[in-house]
Amino acid sequence: MQIAPFARSITPELAATATTDLERLFFAHEGPICHRWHHMLALYDRVLTRYRGTPVRLLEIGVRFGGSLEIWRSFLGDHATIHGIDTDERCAQFDNASHRVHIGSQSDTGLLDRVVEEMGGVDVVIDDGGHFNVDQITSFRHLYPKLSETGVYICEDTHSSYWSRFGGGPRKRGSDAPADVDPAQASFIEFAKDHIDLLHAWYLDDRSFTADEEAFVTQTQSISFHDSVVVFERGPKSSPFHILAGTQEFTEGSGGNSARPGIASGQER
Ligand SMILES: C[S@@+](CC[C@H](N)C(=O)[O-])C[C@H]1O[C@@H](n2cnc3c(N)ncnc32)[C@H](O)[C@@H]1O
Repeated sequence: MQIAPFARSITPELAATATTDLERLFFAHEGPICHRWHHMLALYDRVLTRYRGTPVRLLEIGVRFGGSLEIWRSFLGDHATIHGIDTDERCAQFDNASHRVHIGSQSDTGLLDRVVEEMGGVDVVIDDGGHFNVDQITSFRHLYPKLSETGVYICEDTHSSYWSRFGGGPRKRGSDAPADVDPAQASFIEFAKDHIDLLHAWYLDDRSFTADEEAFVTQTQSISFHDSVVVFERGPKSSPFHILAGTQEFTEGSGGNSARPGIASGQER
């Protein structure tokens, strides 16, 4: 597989490929720089479109030059509450009436608490901060339970899960269960993969869950993995069940394995 150089500039040809509003806004943006992987724009458009024009509360970890916060404002509209966090004190200059900027680390859980409180809650978190796995896991653990009931958590640039200089490494699992993971010993991708088991917790025979794991099980609808992005979508989840619509099974004499019972009698799927 050949990998082309990663960096490209916006050309009219590239801009002409836009199929979503977020891509169009990004390509037309002027002023403070926003820096994103091209393929993430269409994904974010899809995941965040439902919040446009609503009083959504979005927190972006990683402000850099402030351009991203400006684009979120254009995309989400006037009713959105938009906050950013960055360790770089120079980012304080981007604190304005449109979006608040807080200086500090995404691993400072006290800061995260204060920011969420000031925001009056949080519906969307985008972690585009330092990309160190330990910070990504720490922020996720602290912020995910604070998301509103149907909120979205996006962890970006998870290719750092494969880079040792960011504390990653292939299959760096750290532990067998998400609750036991030492954030300094695991990659975010492996930590996220472990959560796939929690989506299926209902079907496991003998496994006990911690209170945090159980909360994840009953409050998460989906996890989706993309190139360098993991998206967690929250939503109340209760014990799954399956149902039948209609009443007819095979017609008499149609052959087949008659020893196998029909499903109308309530057999497992
Ligand atoms: C990739 S840039 C953010 C880009 C921005 N979101 C955009 O789209 O243009 C990452 C930013 O995260 C900040 N950062 C690094 N470590 C951090 C940490 N532990 N907590 C919060 N921000 C951090 C850096 O100072 C840098 O400005």
